[in-house]
Formats: sequence, structure tokens, C-alpha cells
Amino acid sequence: MTRPVALLLLALVLGGCAEDASERGAVTLVFKYARILGPADPLPGLLREFEAAHPRVRVKGESLPWTSDEQHQFYVINLEGRSPGFDLMMLDVIWVPEFARAGWLLDLTPHLAPGELAPHFPSTVEAATHDGRVWALPWTMNVGLLYYRADLLAKHGLAPPASFEELVSQVRRIRSAERDPALEGYLWQGKQYEGLVVNVLEAFWAGGTRLLAEDGTVLPEPARAAEALDVLRGLIEAGVSPAWTTAADEELSRRAFGDGHAIFLRNWPYALDLFEAPGSAVRGRVGIAPLPGRAGGPPGAGSTGGAHLGVSRRSRHPELALALARFLTSERAQKAIALGAALSPTREALYHDAALVRSRPSLPAIHALARAGRPRPVTPYYLLLSATVQPEFSAALVGVKSPSRAIADARARLDHFLGAIR
Ligand code: GLC
Repeated sequence: MTRPVALLLLALVLGGCAEDASERGAVTLVFKYARILGPADPLPGLLREFEAAHPRVRVKGESLPWTSDEQHQFYVINLEGRSPGFDLMMLDVIWVPEFARAGWLLDLTPHLAPGELAPHFPSTVEAATHDGRVWALPWTMNVGLLYYRADLLAKHGLAPPASFEELVSQVRRIRSAERDPALEGYLWQGKQYEGLVVNVLEAFWAGGTRLLAEDGTVLPEPARAAEALDVLRGLIEAGVSPAWTTAADEELSRRAFGDGHAIFLRNWPYALDLFEAPGSAVRGRVGIAPLPGRAGGPPGAGSTGGAHLGVSRRSRHPELALALARFLTSERAQKAIALGAALSPTREALYHDAALVRSRPSLPAIHALARAGRPRPVTPYYLLLSATVQPEFSAALVGVKSPSRAIADARARLDHFLGAIR
């Protein structure tokens, strides 16, 4: 190579670099999302991949608090102000109608290709839709399920319990035979937060009732609702569930079960990968099953949950934020997330993807459970509903109110609030 040509090349290379460097910082997208548990967090890698395909864009991932309630609080405070400071947000499925109605989300409807959302669970698309318009892209899927210690059940010749009644008798039988005072029976989430509402709704459904009827009546069968709450309270009173259940969230209960200290656990699918991780005390000893129903009744159903991605209406780069949401919810990204993290995809085909199923053999079973799951009420007032019933349900669980009093008080307060809105 002659000297002038080499110099020219060098100048081009340096010039190119300088231009790249100045352009690279041209746009910063801020993405708010919750910490992802699992063997490896695939998110940073995916964000770098998006940047490589969009050289002028830098993506800043910022983490949200752990619980859904705290995340909601963060968003409400920041979205009420003038500049939210973020472009793309991870949303709990239950918030989409509320955020859409508040004017916080970009309406994605005009940007979507026909059939674009068809590969996702229909329930996730329903949760993303409000007033016939789509406000978010489905990202991760959740469904409540029952974890059981397969080794202990097998040792005592038991199959996973189909009803709460059966679960209670299995706990008694196993504990009296094992004589291990540290072995708890059934762990679930009874702390006063969204997780408690999920657990109580699942108990309502098992007992043949619900929180909100189609005609908008709240707690339409109060006696059945009180009975379901009484069953949950009875688990704690009888010692089938530990006293600390009233302070338990997903992680507290997941860790206790993961340390080998319980026979049964209600949780989301993410827990399974952590139980199966190398070094886990319960590795190879955990099974999953549908949540129990009630004796003689229909099988139990888990609540659906999970996360969507929504673009802030105040984003200065809505097209890029949407491009990032599309990339993160794409089949490729959802697969990477399912492989590296403990989260489950919203794209149904991935539950039967050969490579994924090899690394996570429980995926087809989780798919069936997710299909059979039930949503919490899809309404812009969901948070109001939840925040109102939380202290009532909690009061019944800790025993400061009778279940029927708690249900009556929840009804009275909700009638008052919702009456004022209607
Ligand atoms: C999980 C679910 C979410 C639910 C929350 C309750 O994060 O994905 O939908 O609201 O748990 O704690």
C-alpha cells in the first residue's frame, strides 16, 4: 500500500469513528424494567444488540422496584409530572387500561400490522387492549401454579392434590411422618399488596365466585367470597401455612420453599428455574401442577399475570421506543429471555420450540396452565379495586376482622368509590 493511500484510509477510518462516536450519543432511550431473576440476565445483551442495529441510539436500562405496587407508585408519580424521563416502560398487565385512560401511553394501533399480535396468548392481547385500541406489546407471561415436593409426595404414595381439602390432609400426613419441625406445609403470598389480591382471587375462583361481575357488581356473592377468605385464614390458623404467610411475597415464599422448608408453594413459573439451578437444595425434587380447587368442584385456575411494554406518550423518540419494544417482544428476544432468565414468553409457539423445551422441559406444561389461567378484572379501575380490597383481605387473614365483615366492608367501600365514578 502506498503511503498516501494508507493515510487516506486512516483518515477515513478515524473520520468514520469520530462521526460514529458523535452520532452514537445522538439519541438516548430510557427503558424502565424490573430486575430479571434467572441463571443469566439476557437484557443487557439484548439492549446492546438493539444499539448495534441502531448506531445512533443508546439504550439506558433503568431498574424498577421489585413489587408491582411499588412499580405502580413510581410510574404514577413520574407520569403525572411534565417530563417522565423515560421512553419505554415495562407494565404489569393489570395497568394497561388505567394508563391508557390516563393518557400516559402511545396508542400503538395505527403502527401495528394486521395479525401482528396473533402469535401471543389471546389473554395478553386482551390485557393490552382498551376501548378497542392496543396500548402495549405483550412481553412476558405469568400464571399462578402449585409447586410440590415430588420426592416427598412420592415417598408417601401421594399424587398432587386437586383440592385444598386434599392439600391440607397431605400436609398433615407428610408432616406427621417426617417429624421435621422446620418443614412447613403450604406457602403462598399473604402480605398486603397485589400478590395478596391474586391469591385471594384464586381462592374465590376455586370457591365459584369472583371480585367483579360482568354487570359491574363488586363481590356479587358475598357469602362465597367470605367462605373463600375463611379457607385461607383457616390454613394459617391450622398451621398448614406458617404465621409469616401474612408477610410473604413471591420472593420470601420462593426462598423458603427453595431452601427445602416446605411441601407446597403457590407461585409463578419463574420460581421453577431457580429451584432447578445448580446448587439449589430442591433441584430435581420439585413438580408443578394446577392450583387446587375445592372438593367436588371444578379444577383450580391460576391468575394470569406478566408484563407488557408500553411507549410513553411524552417520549421524544416514539418510533425508536416502539422499535425497541418490537425488538424486545420479538420471537428472537423472547427466546433469549426464556433461555437466560426465568421468565416465560407471551408467544405461544415458543412453548413448543425444540431448543427451548430441551433447556426448560416444563414449558409445554406451563403453556397448558397459562391457557387455563384466568385474568384479574380488565378495567381502568383495577388498581382502585385492588387497593380497596387489600386492607380488608389482609385484616381477615391476620384475624382482626371476620372474613364476612371484611367482605362487607370491601363491598361498601367499593360501591361508594365506583358509584362516584359511574
Ligand atoms: C407478578 C405478575 C403480576 C402480578 C404480580 C403480583 O409480577 O406478573 O401480573 O401483578 O406478580 O405480585
